Amino acid sequence: MNIAIVGSTGAVGQELRQLLHERSFPVTGVRFFSSPRSAGKQVDFGGTSVTVEALPEDGNLGAELVFSSAGGSVAKAHARAWAEHGALVVDNTSAWRMDPNTPLVVPEVNADAIDTHAGIIANPNCSTILALMALAPLHRAFGLTRATVATYQAVSGAGAKGLDELTRMTRAALDGTPAEPEVFEHSVAFNLFSHDSDVGEDGYNVEERKLLLESRKILGVPDLAVSATCVRVPTYRAHAEAIHAAFERPVSDDEARAVLASAPGVTLVDDRAGNRFPMPLDASGQDNVLVGRIREDASLPGGIALFLAGDQIRKGAALNAVQIAEAWLERGRPGGR
Ligand SMILES: NC(=O)c1ccc[n+]([C@@H]2O[C@H](COP(=O)([O-])OP(=O)(O)OC[C@H]3O[C@@H](n4cnc5c(N)ncnc54)[C@H](OP(=O)(O)O)[C@@H]3O)[C@@H](O)[C@H]2O)c1
Repeated sequence: MNIAIVGSTGAVGQELRQLLHERSFPVTGVRFFSSPRSAGKQVDFGGTSVTVEALPEDGNLGAELVFSSAGGSVAKAHARAWAEHGALVVDNTSAWRMDPNTPLVVPEVNADAIDTHAGIIANPNCSTILALMALAPLHRAFGLTRATVATYQAVSGAGAKGLDELTRMTRAALDGTPAEPEVFEHSVAFNLFSHDSDVGEDGYNVEERKLLLESRKILGVPDLAVSATCVRVPTYRAHAEAIHAAFERPVSDDEARAVLASAPGVTLVDDRAGNRFPMPLDASGQDNVLVGRIREDASLPGGIALFLAGDQIRKGAALNAVQIAEAWLERGRPGGR
């Protein structure tokens, strides 16, 4: 299969290149695209050097499968044209997620939605994917009615430049030299702050709204209640989330643990005696989402509290996108591409 990665030099693009090789995706040809800034640069694909190109004007990427990972404005402007040239577009950005004709897919949760695509399949927001890896199996077993979520989001959620900013600001703070933040509004060194997305009139920011709207769409529960507080923290990689969830009936912690123990893509890390629970450093580079601290919620009778950590560049973005493409192949390439 001829594939293209748009945004191939970014944090997600780099992970996509690695994963396609690692998972022996059936690749016969690759084309890697970036902004004109990186065009001409050499990047690695399974030990082979490939020249990065600027996007062609005519929208023909010469690929049957396009991984789109260059930001929402690029996807909004071009993804339809890439699809019209015959490609299936798996889009990592927020551009098409809430479009009624575009399936929004976490393969462990709603792989069958792939069959309804019209050229574009959207990869959900990273915090939403990680939350649903735990909440969807619980929903299937007990009927999720509401969730309160607090996120602890790594700087790489803002791309490769977020990583550089944490290093630069931390080094400056340790050296006692002045440094101005460039990527985030506030210093990320030894600090944390409300997620760097716009706050709406209701007081929720864009990231928090994604958790509500995308969860409803993926689970197919239009009246699901989700209240999120999204926070940027000074970790390089892997987001963590504290979740409090209520269901159609009271759920015990043993019942919840049993469901999560057999959930695909989930690893239980729930060692009360050893005080070992999910951590971003353990989740970094892992495919599975780590879930633990499973307990009956003392403030929400019948509800469950838990804590998770997951690699948001991997399962929250690149891995989920590759899994969508794999599921599309396994399902016989629905959509005629
Ligand atoms: N990072 C995460 O954890 C994460 C998780 C889920 C979803 N996402 C989404 O995935 C997308 C990419 O994120 P990222 O973290 O990989 O960002 P990034 O590290 O900033 O990389 C952005 C990539 O897009 C390319 N690009 C920028 N403008 C372009 C243009 N006009 N035309 C073509 N290519 C262009 C960049 O090329 P240059 O090298 O030339 O600048 C680079 O390859 C975003 O929509 C983001 O919201 C990210």
